[in-house]
Amino acid sequence: MPSTRPLRHLISLHDLAQSEIDDLLDLSLRLKQRPGKATLASKSVGLLFFRGSLRTRTSFEAAMNQLGGTTINLTAASDFWELESAPGAVMDGRAPEHVKDAAAVLSCYVNALAIRTKPAGAAWNVDRRDAEIRSWAEHSKVPVINMESALWHPLQGLADLMTLRETLGDVRGKTLSFVWTNSPSAASPTAVHSLMHVALRSGMHVRVANPPGYELDEEVWRQAQALASEHGGSATALGDPAAALRGAHVVYARSWHSLADYGNPTLAASRRARAGDWLIDERRMALGEDAKLMHAMPVRRNLEVVDSVLDGPRSLVVRQAENRLHSQKAVLWWLLGL
Ligand code: CP
Repeated sequence: MPSTRPLRHLISLHDLAQSEIDDLLDLSLRLKQRPGKATLASKSVGLLFFRGSLRTRTSFEAAMNQLGGTTINLTAASDFWELESAPGAVMDGRAPEHVKDAAAVLSCYVNALAIRTKPAGAAWNVDRRDAEIRSWAEHSKVPVINMESALWHPLQGLADLMTLRETLGDVRGKTLSFVWTNSPSAASPTAVHSLMHVALRSGMHVRVANPPGYELDEEVWRQAQALASEHGGSATALGDPAAALRGAHVVYARSWHSLADYGNPTLAASRRARAGDWLIDERRMALGEDAKLMHAMPVRRNLEVVDSVLDGPRSLVVRQAENRLHSQKAVLWWLLGL
């Protein structure tokens, strides 16, 4: 029977009012303490992965299973057709099916669709529009949950904010420093974008430190500054890891690709070689205010962060990953529960 509730999607955490984020995090913490009885029996979620995942895929499946529901996993390239997403496209290229049709059909089978897209990687001003995930949301008749697109990683952002609240209590006025790390397989700034905005909405002071050419997306940064003014925090860009770490309560290490060289691997490799020393070690962590370490993982040990910090008492990285399970249960209950 079709649902009568208004259709909601979770593409970015801006789709949630602050009161909804607060409610979801309260529920996440309750579910962590008392997992409770199965509540989503007979519900199913389709998981569509256009690129790989360890944490997102496993935690999402585990969350749905523990709530009594089921998941149907579909991996692009092996399980379904290549898809076109451009409106009005003359489909004489490689893709034999349009997202419009795939979304309409899958909506008949499952209660929600969770999707990790794969940005084309040629031009940032194109990828940043998140056209694929937005096309799914436009054409789906069931909620669409973003499991990471070019711009956002809302499920990671929610789990990270939960981890911050668990660790710091009241986060207002505390300092969260995002520090770029050097990796040959640079991740993306999606986890930084998502957490940065919700941290600012919570009144935190945010710093972002990176070498030249690794500045965050201009529009995301403009929004960050507006959120800082609105909620009493601050958003500061720095070019030196030590400046970012000094007095920080939490250090969030993350590699991300250079938008200046987006789509040009030769220039990107050359810039990376000139980036200097951004390794997070004990000496740098000691600059903080009893600072904790966060990282969305996967993490390259002793290249991004040294073993002793990752394995030591400051590290929250496994707790962050665990909290994906609890916070996703809360999201699933919010979207699909009775
Ligand atoms: N943090 C995160 O999204 O991990 P995966 O890419 O392994 O899902």
